[in-house]
Amino acid sequence: MKETVQPELIPFDRMREQVEKNLTTYISQSSECLELPKITYEKGVSTVSFPLPYFNEMTIFTIISIIKTHIENVRIHSFGDGYYAFQMMNRNLFHTEGLLDNLKVEIFGLSSGSRTEISKKGNLTQEEVNFTIEIFKELYEVEQDNPETALRRLGASVYHDHGALDWNYIAGYEDVKRKIRESIIMPLQNPDIYDSIAQLTRRSFETNRPSAILFDGPPGVGKTTIARIIAGEVKIPLVYVPVESIMSKWYGQSSQNLSAIFDNTEFLGSAILFLDEIDSLAGSRNSNMFEATRRILSVLLRRLDGIDSISNTITIGATNRRGDLDPALISRFDQTISFPLPNDKERAAIFSGYARHIGEEDLLTFGELTPGLSGRSIKDICEYTERRWARKLIIKKADPCAPSPDYYRYSINSWMGDNFSDTTDKAMNSE
Ligand SMILES: Nc1ncnc2c1ncn2[C@@H]1O[C@H](COP(=O)(O)OP(=O)(O)OP(=O)(O)O)[C@@H](O)[C@H]1O
Ligand SMILES: [Mg+2]
Repeated sequence: MKETVQPELIPFDRMREQVEKNLTTYISQSSECLELPKITYEKGVSTVSFPLPYFNEMTIFTIISIIKTHIENVRIHSFGDGYYAFQMMNRNLFHTEGLLDNLKVEIFGLSSGSRTEISKKGNLTQEEVNFTIEIFKELYEVEQDNPETALRRLGASVYHDHGALDWNYIAGYEDVKRKIRESIIMPLQNPDIYDSIAQLTRRSFETNRPSAILFDGPPGVGKTTIARIIAGEVKIPLVYVPVESIMSKWYGQSSQNLSAIFDNTEFLGSAILFLDEIDSLAGSRNSNMFEATRRILSVLLRRLDGIDSISNTITIGATNRRGDLDPALISRFDQTISFPLPNDKERAAIFSGYARHIGEEDLLTFGELTPGLSGRSIKDICEYTERRWARKLIIKKADPCAPSPDYYRYSINSWMGDNFSDTTDKAMNSE
């Protein structure tokens, strides 16, 4: 007699991850605050349970119809009085041995709150996992929000500020701009050309377009700003994910939520997924955090590998501490673009963007006076100067005019004099 092949069993942890990942993306699209099912492994039994959104004949009917499409033979174990149970049969219907170890679906219709429980001794098969996911989805018919709403709920921001900023806003950095044009903008604007080449060269088609780029550089050198400019130029949304702050907000759900962010970004069709402060993934090493970090990292590695090659989406990771990143993570990025601190001339050019009324010679002096400063510090100095100047005008009841070069020089000296420590920063910001 021909032996029937037993379907493969999915280890409990993988089953849980699969169910949670799938349903996190699903419920992220609901405007209601839904909870994931409780998934446990106790005394050798895997159980997935969740409260029912409603309980009436429709509930039973829905569950029975899903059972019918996934499971060959079931036996009604109990039917009525608020307790319904369905027991999966053995392949050979005449074998009753170990019957109770098979998958079981129970429905508890209690006045205190009804729920359903899907349980089985040992591990589930893939079909049984799919079945479990489908029951939840069928019962909680989530009205599918658009992916943007889902992304916002997950803690990401979605920007569409096309044309708000352009390349002229960033002074200097010609080398960085060139690299970005070549490795990000051109592929995003001409995906067909890249794909046609890959069709001609690859034995089996795979994309040659970069899917992930790392921006590395000290704070305030324009990494985030440039990501917004790129999205504006290509006219696609920018999904901004502040990794550190959302990780603490998500608690235990971080890895599933990160996965849901990738899913929802792909639903947008074409987008830039900007993972800011990606180094916070490699940060704290206390034991609790470590497990969570490890899980997030593994999701990230998998998602960076598996970005849908058809989708025109690129992930940009930004970090101040590339050296702290896990080597496996670094290797997933197609390229690192380094943002150095600006040189003398670039600093003068940055000053000119925030103090356009100042003459060339003064600007060059400002550039020379500010070694080591970032674009952000320069912008801060200019803002500080303008605020001081405004106070002066108000006190003197003078007509508005732009600050004099001396005012800038004074601000620069006080910033540099204190070696731009935190105290200067605070003093300047609070003045
Ligand atoms: N080259 C530049 N020209 C003009 N403005 C600049 C330049 N570099 C930085 N800035 C300004 O400094 C501010 C901070 O830049 P941004 O937030 O993009 O830096 P970042 O590299 O992302 O910093 P962080 O690592 O702290 O996130 C922005 O307002 C930006 O416009
Ligand atoms: Mg930034």
